[in-house]
Amino acid sequence: MARKILLEHIQVQNINTFEVYRSKGGYAAVEKAIKTMSPEAVVEEVKKSGLRGRGGAGFPTGMKWSFLAKPDGIPRYLVCNGDESEPGTFKDRFLMTHIPHALIEGMIVASYALGANTSYIYVRGEMMPQIRILEKAIIEAKNAGFLGKNILGSGYDLELYVQPGGGAYICGEETALLESLEGKRGNPRIKPPFPAIAGLYGCPTVVNNVETIAATSWIINHGGDEYAKIGLERSTGTKLISASGNLNKPGVYEIELGLPVEEFIYSDEYCGGIAHGKRLKAVVAGGSSVPILPAKLILKTAADTARLMTYESLSDGGFATGTMLGSGGFIALDEDACIVRNTWNFSRFYHHESCGQCSPCREGTGWMEKILHKIEYGHGTLQDISLLEEINKKIEGNTICPLGDAAAWPVASAIRHFRDEFEWHVNEPMLSQKNNYGLANYGA
Ligand SMILES: Cc1cc2nc3c(=O)[nH]c(=O)nc-3n(C[C@H](O)[C@H](O)[C@H](O)COP(=O)(O)O)c2cc1C
Repeated sequence: MARKILLEHIQVQNINTFEVYRSKGGYAAVEKAIKTMSPEAVVEEVKKSGLRGRGGAGFPTGMKWSFLAKPDGIPRYLVCNGDESEPGTFKDRFLMTHIPHALIEGMIVASYALGANTSYIYVRGEMMPQIRILEKAIIEAKNAGFLGKNILGSGYDLELYVQPGGGAYICGEETALLESLEGKRGNPRIKPPFPAIAGLYGCPTVVNNVETIAATSWIINHGGDEYAKIGLERSTGTKLISASGNLNKPGVYEIELGLPVEEFIYSDEYCGGIAHGKRLKAVVAGGSSVPILPAKLILKTAADTARLMTYESLSDGGFATGTMLGSGGFIALDEDACIVRNTWNFSRFYHHESCGQCSPCREGTGWMEKILHKIEYGHGTLQDISLLEEINKKIEGNTICPLGDAAAWPVASAIRHFRDEFEWHVNEPMLSQKNNYGLANYGA
């Protein structure tokens, strides 16, 4: 069995309560950090661990923490990003639901390291059950002396609040999140300045994903060097993967980074293979925003192109043959899946969720959705496929935030790897319409 860090005690009954979490060694990291370590020493351990942000971009967490400006007389904030709206990603809500104290403990450790006395957990507005669970956990931690004034007699104060979000995907983008937290419309800010210099209310702020923050307790308990021994090269530690699609056992899994993708899909410890004994056609490895890869570029072949679940291995080959680990939203598509329909579905989402601030994204996402709808329903032309590629190029890299890129990449990669399936929809509209299936081509 692979090593578990975040989900080590997931099977323990009532692990969502303070008493049970504490009886399993919970809050030891807070005691160790606050009683025996300086904030700088905590940052140093996180740096040593090699932990990278689990929200999607994989930015080194310790480095992000060390960038935080520390001017005198101005508050600093830690904001946890629990917006989790990326299609295919559902690991943060799993953690918040079942082991809420892992996040609260991490929040205290990280807030102490950053010198924050007020911290926020921003949770997508629709996730009311998780918001209630976290609020209850905060009261429990406060009653036990781990939050509030003079924590464990150390003189360190911390107030922690849960803020329901605006219910929009864009509010997961860190600067849109900060706008929303300030009570404004969740529009991304132009960067620089980055949040580390001018974040919440113009003050130095760190925004980190739920899973990133939860991982810091283990790092403090065991040391950054121990954490860095897990995983592979620059992809250290474990990662929660939300597995969905045509799998025998979809769910949330904790993997050691470096696991072969093939093992993740087929081994009984994880997804148990493709449902109904079908063949794998394609994988969206890191949530809807990342490029789709055909089976032949993700599974081990004679040419030995096996992929590993790491930031580096999945992106190997750039966008020509690679993808990204992203937020770990792993979607498997079987031989019957229609790539055009899947791409249109993603496009519909990005069109709906574009905040409308930048013209390439506002107009381009709607345009792409319309063309994909046309192709999917048998009215497309071959020029439409080229037009999609043109629109993609106009969006990518031309927007304030990466939502534009996130909308462009799935379309560009689907055409790159499955062009014959798009052409089939154009040339054989009746056939492709008949059963809604795609071509069993496993990638052109
Ligand atoms: C459109 C968009 C949506 C995002 N949604 C989320 C989200 O739901 N949760 C998250 O942690 N990061 C999300 N991010 C990434 C955040 O901007 C930010 O990089 C992340 O919260 C930093 O945390 P980390 O360093 O721990 O990964 C999103 C980014 C974009 C562009």
